[in-house]
Amino acid sequence: MDLTFVAASPQRFDRFWALEQACHPLPWSESNLYSCLMGNYWGELLLVDGKAAGFYLFQQVLDEATLVNICIHPQQQGKGLGQRLLQHALEQAKARDLAICFLEVRAGNAPAIALYQRCGFNQDAIRKGYYPAIKGDGREDAVLMSKSL
Ligand SMILES: CC(C)(COP(=O)(O)OP(=O)(O)OC[C@H]1O[C@@H](n2cnc3c(N)ncnc32)[C@H](O)[C@@H]1OP(=O)(O)O)[C@@H](O)C(=O)NCCC(=O)NCCS
Repeated sequence: MDLTFVAASPQRFDRFWALEQACHPLPWSESNLYSCLMGNYWGELLLVDGKAAGFYLFQQVLDEATLVNICIHPQQQGKGLGQRLLQHALEQAKARDLAICFLEVRAGNAPAIALYQRCGFNQDAIRKGYYPAIKGDGREDAVLMSKSL
């Protein structure tokens, strides 16, 4: 399996957008995703044998990174690619001399929470009812996590 990483940019929007729609039950809007491919956002697209398989995006403010999105195409999940992608992302953040990485995740997103814990993130707090529920009118808590780099 050949893994390649290419920098996020508005020119590569189409591949990010296809993954965003395939991976998330409630995908971002096109304009939200587009705006996260520039400015103080950065990240990379993961290619597996040349095919787009996932991506990550950080927002950077001074020496703090926030992981705003990470996803692996459903057909490629459960093979350890999420872990490879996140480890690579954290190495890139370290190489930029960033001190800490933050993230927020749905309390019910067990695969993502398992991945973050395995990569050394600790839980800092819970934000009650932060997200609209994926199904129905309810709300879902956010788990706030961080990792020192
Ligand atoms: C989160 C995500 C990136 C993980 O990618 P992945 O390539 O499947 O991750 P890995 O194969 O490296 O590891 C998945 C881990 O989740 C665990 N897992 C999978 N399904 C699970 C479930 N229903 N409950 C608990 N753990 C689960 C796996 O066992 C594995 O952990 P392990 O190695 O300790 O066994 C992927 O599921 C995804 O893209 N989800 C949709 C987008 C998303 O929710 N992103 C995060 C919030 S922005």
